[in-house]
Amino acid sequence: MRTDSSPLSSPLTIYRKDYTPPAFLVDTVELGFDLDPHRTIVANRITMQRNPDGTNCDIVLHGEEIELVQLRMNGKVLQAGEYSIEGVLLTIKNAPDQVVLEIETVCVPVENTTLSGLYVSNGNFFTQCEAEGFRRITYFPDRPDVMAKYTVMLRADKATYPVLLSNGNLIEEGDLGDGRHYAKWEDPFKKPSYLFALVAAKLVCQEETYTLNSGRDVLLQVWVEDGNLDKTDYAMQSLKNSIRWDEERFGLELDLDRFMIVAVGDFNMGAMENKGLNIFNTKFVLANPRVATDIDYAGIEAVVGHEYFHNWTGNRVTCRDWFQLSLKEGLTVFRDQEFSADMIGSDSGRAVTRIDQVRTLRQAQFPEDAGPMSHPVRPDSFVEINNFYTVTVYEKGAEVVRMYQTLVGRDGFRKGMDLYFERHDGQAVTCDDFRAAMADANGRDLRQFERWYSQAGTPVVTARTRYDAVKRNFDIILSQRSNHPDQLPFHIPVAVGLLGEDGRALPLTLDGGTQEQGATTVVLELTEQEQIFRFRNIDERPTPSILRDFSAPVILEYDYTDDELLHLFRHDSDPVNRWEAGQRLAMARLLKLTAQVAAKQDKPLKLDTTFLDAQRALLIDDTLDPAFRELALILPSEGIIAEQMDVVDPHAIHTARQFMRRTIGTELRAELLAQYHANQTPGEYSPDALSAGKRALKNLCLSYLLVTPDAVTLSLAQHQCEQAGNMTDRFAALVALIHSGVDASAYLQRFYDDFSSEALVIDKWFAMQAATPATDVAAVRKLMAHPAFTLKNPNRARSLLFNFTNANPSQFHAADGSAYAFWAEHVIKLDAINPQVAARFARSMDRWRRYAPALQAKMKAALEQVAAQTKLSNDVLEVITKALA
Ligand code: ARG
Ligand code: ZN
Repeated sequence: MRTDSSPLSSPLTIYRKDYTPPAFLVDTVELGFDLDPHRTIVANRITMQRNPDGTNCDIVLHGEEIELVQLRMNGKVLQAGEYSIEGVLLTIKNAPDQVVLEIETVCVPVENTTLSGLYVSNGNFFTQCEAEGFRRITYFPDRPDVMAKYTVMLRADKATYPVLLSNGNLIEEGDLGDGRHYAKWEDPFKKPSYLFALVAAKLVCQEETYTLNSGRDVLLQVWVEDGNLDKTDYAMQSLKNSIRWDEERFGLELDLDRFMIVAVGDFNMGAMENKGLNIFNTKFVLANPRVATDIDYAGIEAVVGHEYFHNWTGNRVTCRDWFQLSLKEGLTVFRDQEFSADMIGSDSGRAVTRIDQVRTLRQAQFPEDAGPMSHPVRPDSFVEINNFYTVTVYEKGAEVVRMYQTLVGRDGFRKGMDLYFERHDGQAVTCDDFRAAMADANGRDLRQFERWYSQAGTPVVTARTRYDAVKRNFDIILSQRSNHPDQLPFHIPVAVGLLGEDGRALPLTLDGGTQEQGATTVVLELTEQEQIFRFRNIDERPTPSILRDFSAPVILEYDYTDDELLHLFRHDSDPVNRWEAGQRLAMARLLKLTAQVAAKQDKPLKLDTTFLDAQRALLIDDTLDPAFRELALILPSEGIIAEQMDVVDPHAIHTARQFMRRTIGTELRAELLAQYHANQTPGEYSPDALSAGKRALKNLCLSYLLVTPDAVTLSLAQHQCEQAGNMTDRFAALVALIHSGVDASAYLQRFYDDFSSEALVIDKWFAMQAATPATDVAAVRKLMAHPAFTLKNPNRARSLLFNFTNANPSQFHAADGSAYAFWAEHVIKLDAINPQVAARFARSMDRWRRYAPALQAKMKAALEQVAAQTKLSNDVLEVITKALA
């Protein structure tokens, strides 16, 4: 919390250019914990020595919300004048070159509602140290370029906390008498403080000995609360798959004898890659068919993979400073994306995962990059680093890594990774070091590629084409621009294919290109502001398929005609662009309908049969994966439509999109019903991609049919709700029912009663109601009064509040501004509990300047109401200041 009280006084900004190496390096850290929720005593013994490369001279330690009991240097107690504490910095001047510090501090875990540092969740102790939580546990140079070896002694009451875990290997344990016990852990690897973790808890585990490819045995454990052991199989399986995958794809082996995953119900983010002791939000561990959906299963696989892959990309090689966050996060997201795609195996399955990634970028990253929190993948400054765990650093960062692979090929990418580890294992490095490894391993000049790290915003690539029938040349003229005037051109890989009139993929001969004989996709490298690419021997005017597989995170403009889009929608061999053609067809109609609604014309809304016929043909084409068909039939979200408009009218968008959904539901009723029945998955539930795809398509059909329910479709949904053998189907049916407008309260109540003891399912119960267009702010307030609701648990707060503001735009933007006032009230309330969660929630208002003036004024007033608070955290302050700037 800030201590001064002037509203919106600018908080301290930290700049990347100000980086200096640490004055002292730490060799070893010995930590002793006497764990007590009301008063935990931490003894910390650090051996450190002057850094020959250091430019400063003082010892600087960080500490926050901890009480310093004693500080000794080389055996001697330091008195008040021999060190100084200012804000979070403790400085010791005139220190000798070799130093042993002994620091005793006290913290109060039970009062720590921020969930950063050492805290209590459901009576158990957990830690979260990334990014700057370690300083809330003890004084330390809490920066990622200080890597040290840790030994940890945990002492706690044995009956209350029978399980004592920390990083690395358990080297000793025993009783202390007086009902307490201890465990001593040693991590053989050097690590930065943000990777420290401890758990002291009453938990049980599923464990297994697993044999690595090298023949070495490792112990794998998944720790959960008693009663949840029936929900750990999938996490364990995903862990084993991750270990195998990293060995095979990147030649990276688990370097520890023991690897633990621990689930905790109160957690700010998804999970954390602490060395050997990953701590997870329960949401990304616990699953069985009764409580988890297909999407939950996929999330578990991805996050288990993600945290495991961090062991090399993040832990063995870490970040020099937090500006380099994407060095580990972008790379590790790319790795988990590739893992999930490889686990499906088929090309079409891989394409489905890619389409999902594109949707996330458009839904969340493009808007972020066009709004007040826009920042480069490697930011230049921040106020609060926790605000920069963003879709830009993560997902756009992953796109940047993917572009290396697109440019140098899969084998070249592997060579670059090998060189990266050869050079930097055990080091804290920068994004430039990664780029240099990719360039050097492949003999490529990737200097211009650096701009992907330094320039924010989404580039726009415009394509024009011309065909010369006499010379049989087809030219694609690509140009790039950005909305930042002083930006320089990016190095953009644009994958391209050409379709003949019969839909065939044409073999490509690019002028000056080096592609293989008969290739039907080539990667054009756009490096200048404008370039012409010439294809030879083209016998007919082709339809261009540009930006295949979404080869770069850009907005592509090309004046496609409806006929060309229909052609691509029917025939493109690139599934991502095939899907994209459908999205363009839909978007053109959605924008027209929205404009018509906004203009309040009397003319009835209409949807052309060309579009409906294309949708119908795709729906019933069973040569295509059900998962692909589902994605191709989902209309662009209200949020994505909003991004296309100069002035956003959320109500017109909602009306237009609902009209389109209703029309599809009624015009395609017979086919939707047939596909609903054809894509049932009888028998035992399996989360595999094919089964999940069938359920997704079936449930999308149901949701279309339920836009205007009739006796037949209503009873299908009711029956599915009552009889479903898994959460995916039960959840989908209930959502379809509550969205249909019929009275579904009995089904909602039944759902609640059946799962009242399953926190993650109760989150779903709140979430689905929050996202229903019929739920207004009054209804949300009523749900908040429900005994199961609490603002203190991040998952619960997100399920109701975030889903309302982010997934229910027509109510969030209620004309009277009541939901904006609700937002302001709860940003403030949340901030007093948990600044990280509050700052995320605050960002629901990011795009306020794009709304119609009447709404904008009310949004601004709400922002100013928050800004006027005197006790805001830096987290919220940064978001609000930037929104209003
Ligand atoms: N490194 C973690 C992950 O992406 C995220 C932890 C971030 N936590 C935070 N409070 N900023 O896997
Ligand atoms: Zn990560």
